[in-house]
Amino acid sequence: MEIIIADKAGYCFGIENAMKMVQDTLESGPEKIYTLGPISHNTQETERLADQGVTIIADEDIVNIDSGCIILRSHGVGKNIIEAIKKKGLPIINATCPFVRAVQKKVESHDAAGYQIVIVGNKDHPEVIGANGWCREKALIINDINQLENIERYDRICIVAQTTIIESRFNEICDAIRSRVNEVVIFNTICSATAERQAAAAKTAKEVEYMIVIGGYHSSNTQKLVDICKSHCEKTCHIETIRDLDLSEVMKYQKIGITAGASTPDWIVKEVLEGMEEQNKIAEENVVVEVATEE
Ligand code: F3S
Repeated sequence: MEIIIADKAGYCFGIENAMKMVQDTLESGPEKIYTLGPISHNTQETERLADQGVTIIADEDIVNIDSGCIILRSHGVGKNIIEAIKKKGLPIINATCPFVRAVQKKVESHDAAGYQIVIVGNKDHPEVIGANGWCREKALIINDINQLENIERYDRICIVAQTTIIESRFNEICDAIRSRVNEVVIFNTICSATAERQAAAAKTAKEVEYMIVIGGYHSSNTQKLVDICKSHCEKTCHIETIRDLDLSEVMKYQKIGITAGASTPDWIVKEVLEGMEEQNKIAEENVVVEVATEE
C-alpha cells in the first residue's frame, strides 16, 4: 500500500503559529487561559485544549474576568476589544496571523488618512469584524458586486480583502469601484494558503485510487477540499478522526491519498496514518501464499 500525503495538508502558517502560542502559554503561563472565540474550528482539538484548562469566551465576557490571560486567535479582533482587555489589566497573548494584522494596519492607516475603507468579504466572518474594528468610521463590507449602490458618493476609497476571499470576486468588485470612484487604493490582501492547499489536494486526488479528507464535518474549508477531491477521485471519503474510517474498504486500494483541512491538527492526521499502517500490517500477516502446482 502506498500512502501519499498532499502538500500543504492541515494547518496554515497562521493557525500553526496560534496553536504554538497556546501550547507555550499552557506550559509556562498563568493558571487561567481564555481564548476569544475558538482558537481552532476542530472539535477534537477544542476538547483537548478544554481538558487542559483553556476556556473559550465571547467579547462580552471580558468584563467578568479578573485574572488569567486572554489569547487573541488568528482571525484577530478590533482595537476596542484590545482596549477593553487592557482596561481590565489582563495580559494579552496576540496570536493574530501576521497576514491578518497587515490588513488591520492598512485599514487603520488609510482610515486615518481620510479614505473610506471597503473590505471585500463576509460581514459575519470574525476576521472581517475584527478588521472593521480598526477604523473610526465603519468600513463598507462588500461581498457582491450588487452591493455597490451609491458608491460614487465617496471621493477616496481604500479596498482590502478578507484573507480567504476568492480572488476573482475581489478583482470584479475592485474593477467596478475603480470605474466609479475618483481615487481608489487597492491592497490585495488575499492569503495564498487556501488556494495552495486546494491545488495540492487536487493534484494528489488525481494520482490515487482512494482519497481521504480529514477535517471537521462542519468546516467549510474541509468541505471544499472534499468537493475538489471528489471531482478528481470518485472514491473520496471525508472523516473527522480514525474512528470514522472504514479500514476494510481502504485496504482494497493500493494507492491512497490524504489531505486535511486548515484546522485539522497533525495528531489527528498521525492517528489516521498509524491506523492504516497497523491495518496494513495485519492484512500482510494474514496473506495466504498459494503456490500453483502442476496436476
Ligand atoms: Fe493567516 Fe492565511 Fe492562515 S491569513 S490564518 S496564513 S489562511
